[in-house]
Amino acid sequence: EKGGYEHFMLKEIHEQPHAIKDTYRGRLRAKEGIIKMAGIDDNLEKFTNASRIIIVACGTSWHAGLVAEYIFENLARIPVEVEYASEFRYRNPVITNNDVVIAISQSGETADTLAAIKLAKEKGAFVFGVCNVVGSSIARETHAGAYTHAGPEIGVASTKAFTTQITVLTLIALKLGKIKGALSNSDYHYHLQELELIPEKVEKALKSDAHIKMVADIYKDAKNCLYLGRGYNFPVALEGALKLKEISYIHAEGYPAAEMKHGPIALIDDQMPVIVIAVNKGHYEKVVSNIEEIKSRSGKIIGIVTEGDTSVKKLADHVIEVPETLESLTPLLTTIPLQLLSYHIAVMLEKNVDQPRNLAKSVTVE
Ligand code: F6R
Repeated sequence: EKGGYEHFMLKEIHEQPHAIKDTYRGRLRAKEGIIKMAGIDDNLEKFTNASRIIIVACGTSWHAGLVAEYIFENLARIPVEVEYASEFRYRNPVITNNDVVIAISQSGETADTLAAIKLAKEKGAFVFGVCNVVGSSIARETHAGAYTHAGPEIGVASTKAFTTQITVLTLIALKLGKIKGALSNSDYHYHLQELELIPEKVEKALKSDAHIKMVADIYKDAKNCLYLGRGYNFPVALEGALKLKEISYIHAEGYPAAEMKHGPIALIDDQMPVIVIAVNKGHYEKVVSNIEEIKSRSGKIIGIVTEGDTSVKKLADHVIEVPETLESLTPLLTTIPLQLLSYHIAVMLEKNVDQPRNLAKSVTVE
């Protein structure tokens, strides 16, 4: 049942090239420049007329929502707010019938997300679900939706659900960006082609496994860990930190790299591993100067870099390479080494990787 892998989590990490392909199969026709999604096509005006999109979710799904905020705003020029479902539902939020609410949930059973959906519906919003489990409560409670088609996710720590949620949300943003004229024709086609290449690039990123295992062995006894990223990769830093804490029980925090000097930099000494996502897109130069600041305080630097990188390599203690892609698609690749790093550390510490203490796969009580 684990397909020859030692744990479900490892199996599910390795399933990502296929899972992402399953997510866009029948939806993405790159050569023809077509994205077909029934849930969007049937409700197109709701999306094109939306004054804003509010995303509600919990945990890893909330992180996917944060990535989607960058994707929707950049590719479709639609304002987005991302909310913890638990906060949204009790906040008396301002919602109108011009709002589209997107609820993201792997299990489709998360109590807070379900309650947030009910509230948004009462206030007249159009509610769209992005779920993995077919026929789940959230899938049934929403007006329309798109499944991730990632296949069953058994490991409690979410992996392929995250990357497939981002894939679905990217498809939606590209489709809306095209229709709204926010994306040029050439940009649109370029994105479609690059998205189609993501599964093989994920496959390539997975090949760093042995190197990542070696890095894991060096840092497995750390008491704390910091994850930094900017832009699209700031939420990936949050997700990397969540993966580490939930399965290895090592305290970890994710931050936008520039926030370092507003507090967390005080934590840095020669015992502190800092994982920095520093791909050669977006604010690369700024991330490199953040790395210099960590280095001058003797922090241990693990850089997640683009293949062929030289600047970070000179500064970092270790680099882990991912293939090059468009900036908006980098989270689909930078997430992979962070999943593997957490996995190997947890295994080395002899933790129960697939069923970490105190956690449940679906959180059906608030
Ligand atoms: C983290 C994790 C949780 C879930 C969260 C939401 O690895 O699994 O943080 O992401 O409980 O669950 P869903 O997506 O089922 O609503």
